[in-house]
Amino acid sequence: MYNNNTMNNEKKTLFSEKTVKIGENSGHDNYIMAIETSCDETACAIVKNGREVLSNIVASQIKTHEKYGGVIPEIAAREHLETINLVIEEAFEQSGLKPENITAIAGTVGPGLVGSLLVGLNATKTLALVYDKPFIGVNHLNAHVCANYIDTDLKPPFISLLVSGGHTQIIEVKSHAEQKIIGETIDDAVGEAYDKVARLIGLPYPGGPLLDKLAKDGNKFAYKLPEGKVEGYDFSFSGLKTAVLRLVQKLKEEDAKENPLISHLSPDTVNDICSSFQETVSATLLKKVKAALEETGYKQVVLAGGVAANSEIRRKFFELEKEGYKVNAPAMKYCTDNAAMIASCAYFSTNTFDDINVEVFSRV
Ligand code: KG4
Ligand code: ZN
Repeated sequence: MYNNNTMNNEKKTLFSEKTVKIGENSGHDNYIMAIETSCDETACAIVKNGREVLSNIVASQIKTHEKYGGVIPEIAAREHLETINLVIEEAFEQSGLKPENITAIAGTVGPGLVGSLLVGLNATKTLALVYDKPFIGVNHLNAHVCANYIDTDLKPPFISLLVSGGHTQIIEVKSHAEQKIIGETIDDAVGEAYDKVARLIGLPYPGGPLLDKLAKDGNKFAYKLPEGKVEGYDFSFSGLKTAVLRLVQKLKEEDAKENPLISHLSPDTVNDICSSFQETVSATLLKKVKAALEETGYKQVVLAGGVAANSEIRRKFFELEKEGYKVNAPAMKYCTDNAAMIASCAYFSTNTFDDINVEVFSRV
């Protein structure tokens, strides 16, 4: 699927070259410590056997980036550097474990912001060397999907809808080793569209969660917005974003006729825009995934990525249970960036990088 290597459950430590078995068939309990720093969350977690979270620490930088209206990469990297040691200490403390008890040490390799990734991946490599544990590099996108294994007994095969700030994909997960992207966005990612529309209507960064909240008080039929017209399982959200821009301009012009000094959008209008936008996005996502389920014959579907925290997308997808599908979405705290999903991904060896010399990458 992404840049990957072998599905090997035997990993070597670098100093003593001991072989350690990892995963479901290892014959022993696995305690994987993981670090995630791909964007603006500094996170460390310890997870038992890929599903049981012993500690999950996330230090968010939202307060720092809020005033700029988006993530500033240079500042993000510096803040990861300041926070990472504290987050690691806290993860050990909450888990009650010591480094000696850890089976392997995992970290995000990419995609993400290079400067941010470097801080977390260097910490991961250093700890693996110092404590003589196997190193496991993880792809952030695979990890979002693996968040679905936490606190569940979910097993492939299933269809996954991955919706995050940078990606929108429909993935056929045949097994941990065999995964295929069958659809993706040709322009904006869903999270990106949420954040851009939120900015258009004056909401602070990151707009997604707030837009979701305001949408609940709006009328979803207030404005008819266009669904992206793309063949097959692919998506397009840039036309929808432009339609919201035009709508906002038109509403402000109309308001200016009545309030020439300060033209603005009333709170009710904002709620209606949020609700209409959210309805269009969630309906499109459901339609495409349903077509994929019907054509592939899969009976299980999971949501993944930060936008999987969205209330309307979750509601629409869980309705599929009435049609006989098994539906899963991670708990809210495992939808947005966290390190527990990285540990889970390392345990199930989903497209991992075992070579400690692996370099961070920004894009797939
Ligand atoms: O997966 P994630 O934490 O980071 C990436 O890997 O990109 O996703 C972040 C994205 C942001 O665009 C944020 O606005 C969006 O997820 N998001 C939401 C909600 N919660 C987070 N979008 C819509 N509704 C939400 N409730
Ligand atoms: Zn993410």
